[in-house]
Order: sequence, then structure tokens, then C-alpha cells
Amino acid sequence: MNQGSTRRSEPEGVRTAAEADLDQLSRIDNEIFPHDAYPYFVLRQLFDVHSDGFLVLDSATGLLGYTLLATKPDVKTSWVLGLGVVPGSRGLGHGRRLMTEGLVRLAAEGVGEVRLSVEPTNVIALNLYHSLGFGVVEERPGFFGAGNDRLIMGLPLADRR
Ligand SMILES: CC(C)(COP(=O)(O)OP(=O)(O)OC[C@H]1O[C@@H](n2cnc3c(N)ncnc32)[C@H](O)[C@@H]1OP(=O)(O)O)[C@@H](O)C(=O)NCCC(=O)NCCS
Repeated sequence: MNQGSTRRSEPEGVRTAAEADLDQLSRIDNEIFPHDAYPYFVLRQLFDVHSDGFLVLDSATGLLGYTLLATKPDVKTSWVLGLGVVPGSRGLGHGRRLMTEGLVRLAAEGVGEVRLSVEPTNVIALNLYHSLGFGVVEERPGFFGAGNDRLIMGLPLADRR
């Protein structure tokens, strides 16, 4: 479902998500990933565990996108567990803005490397990640179950501090 014409608006900025955002976060997650959005209870529990890593891009008309960054306890590696912009607001720099802010925060926390998984056919996401310096570190057939292949990409952050 493309709700672009009603959703497109000036972003107010990237901020850490609050508990009060969860309903809207779940709604936009379902718009962004119609076939594999997080069930609400998973989103809720991810928020409880990784609330500092849940970043949203807010606007006068509501949330335009989010990213979810989860750092392992040894702080060596963070994973991008989610990145998305609502359909009608894509191609305006919002995805890059969310990722850039996330990477700045992770570098400041002393994270050594950021990893993510991406569908091999997701050209837009691949372009974004390559342009941010990510490289493919592994091809993983069946990463999310049979027939659900992913590329694993990585970005060392050591030189950003
Ligand atoms: C991937 C996604 C987050 C990108 O967000 P976005 O706001 O549309 O992207 P941006 O406008 O910030 O563009 C960032 C870069 O993506 C690439 N890109 C954006 N739109 C593109 C298009 N139509 N074709 C090819 N590359 C494109 C470009 O490299 C662009 O950089 P540039 O503008 O300097 O050329 C967004 O498309 C999305 O939500 N897609 C569905 C969910 C998804 O696939 N998430 C990623 C899962 S791994």
C-alpha cells in the first residue's frame, strides 16, 4: 500500500524511539515490509532490549521511517536489524539519513563493526549500503530459511572515531 501523497512531509529529524511510538512503528513496519513485518510482540520485545538502538525519522504527519541497531554485549559488532522508509517518502534521502545517524552513534559507542543482511535483489538497499562503505562479506543461501537467501555486508567503524 502506497500512502505516499499523504505521508510525504518535511522530516523533523532522527530521534531515539519512545514507547509511545510503538503502535505507529508497527503500522509503518507493516507498510514497509508487507510480507515480513515484525509481529507486534517481537517489535515490543526488541524495543525493550534495544531501545537505544531504535531510531525513528519523525515528521509533522508522523513517522517516515526507522532503523533498528542491536549491539552485541562485547560491543565489537552491531547488527542493523531493520531499516525502512514508508513507500511514498522514499528517494528523498531519509534512508541515508537514518543510517548515517545510526553509524555516528555506533562509532561514538566504540562499536568495531556493523553488519547487516540484505536480499541479493534489493538494488536500492545495496546501493545505499555500498555508498556508505559496506562491503559484502558473505553470501548466505537460506539465511532466513529455505529459499530465503541473503548477502551479509559489513562496515568496520574503527577509523570513524
Ligand atoms: C532501502 C530504503 C531504506 C532506502 O531509503 P530511501 O530513503 O528510499 O533512500 P535514500 O533516498 O536515502 O537514497 C539512498 C541511496 O539509495 C540508493 N537509491 C535510492 N533510490 C534508488 C533507486 N530508485 N534506484 C537505485 N538506487 C536508489 C542510492 O544509492 C541513494 O543514494 P543517492 O541518493 O546519493 O544516489 C528504502 O528504499 C526502503 O524502505 N525500502 C524497503 C525496505 C527495505 O528494503 N529495507 C532494507 C532492508 S535490507
